[in-house]
Amino acid sequence: MTAAREVIGSSYMHWAKTRSVAKYNLATSGLGNVKLNELRVSLDDLEITEGGYGYQPLIQSIATRYRVAPEEVVTAAGTTFANHLAMAALIKPGDEILFEHPAYEPMLALARYLGAEVKRFSRRFEDAFQPEDLNRLVTPKTRLIVITNLHNPSGVLIDDSTMKRIGEIARRVGARVLVDEVYMETLFEESPRTSFHLGEEFVVTSSLTKAFGLSGLRCGWILAQRELAKRMWLLNDLFAATAVHAGERLSVVAMQQLEGIRARAKQLLDRNRQILNEFLDTREDLEVVRPEFGTVMFPRVRQGTSERLCELLREKYETSIVPGVFFEMPAHFRIGIAGNTDLLQKGLERLALALDEIRFIRG
Ligand SMILES: Cc1ncc(COP(=O)(O)O)c(C=O)c1O
Repeated sequence: MTAAREVIGSSYMHWAKTRSVAKYNLATSGLGNVKLNELRVSLDDLEITEGGYGYQPLIQSIATRYRVAPEEVVTAAGTTFANHLAMAALIKPGDEILFEHPAYEPMLALARYLGAEVKRFSRRFEDAFQPEDLNRLVTPKTRLIVITNLHNPSGVLIDDSTMKRIGEIARRVGARVLVDEVYMETLFEESPRTSFHLGEEFVVTSSLTKAFGLSGLRCGWILAQRELAKRMWLLNDLFAATAVHAGERLSVVAMQQLEGIRARAKQLLDRNRQILNEFLDTREDLEVVRPEFGTVMFPRVRQGTSERLCELLREKYETSIVPGVFFEMPAHFRIGIAGNTDLLQKGLERLALALDEIRFIRG
């Protein structure tokens, strides 16, 4: 077990904030940021002070969108803080949890920071990144199973029947399942599907960050059973007390305008996914599980690791991708398709040059 005090932050987040910026940035996994003046909002829509446990109009918007009761919604600053609040309410130091591999590193670091005894389950490339059978891994001590859907880094979707089965396995030992669904929004469904409806053991986190380019609003939430949601609100009194109210107001306005944002975002992702797929068709030196949805793919180089490729791309070709080492799979790299199409095309041209230069397959 990693002692909580050894966790001093997130290596991935630090890299993303300080090293991922490049002219051709294929490292990001969220849609380009919407500008304030693209939202139809006036100063009269805003206010700066509101007390209590969450802003009811925002809670109501989220509850309606996911077909849940308002008492089952807890708002939080982004999925990041939603994950923190959810895990803090769900686990105590020393609790055994099952965490997917490969994983979104900040969430894994968080579990360790909270003192969990982290056991891993595999989502192998060879299994198209579907989770292995958890029956073999749960024990009576397991308190929580943590999973992302869509999966970060592969973008793969887990269907409801597999997720239900994970829920049943958790229920058998009295554990919960925490599902980070931040990328599920990129399916752009009007009433988005959520595993929250699959059983009482499910706790779900998400936000407006990835699919809508609204990261700056920090509009995140947790869907949880009422008693658990109440526990999270009380715990939040120790963390954030209340949210930035102007942000809550802006989030309500944004939620009313998701339809327009959604149409643009979906068109962009469909086009860009096709471009990346066509590029991958031309590369014998890469293997990839191709997801149907989402903003990322996680290819693997056929020999060695992707480290040199990432460095060469950055230093010579002004292009960034995410080294697989951040997901504990150094042969892979994560590539994002959420930027504008021209940038993606130019970035892929550079990726082709860098791959040709390294020659992962020697002829
Ligand atoms: C799985 C996952 N959860 C959460 C986040 C962060 O989301 P937010 O900006 O809503 O905090 C990310 C960002 O990359 C992510 O990949």
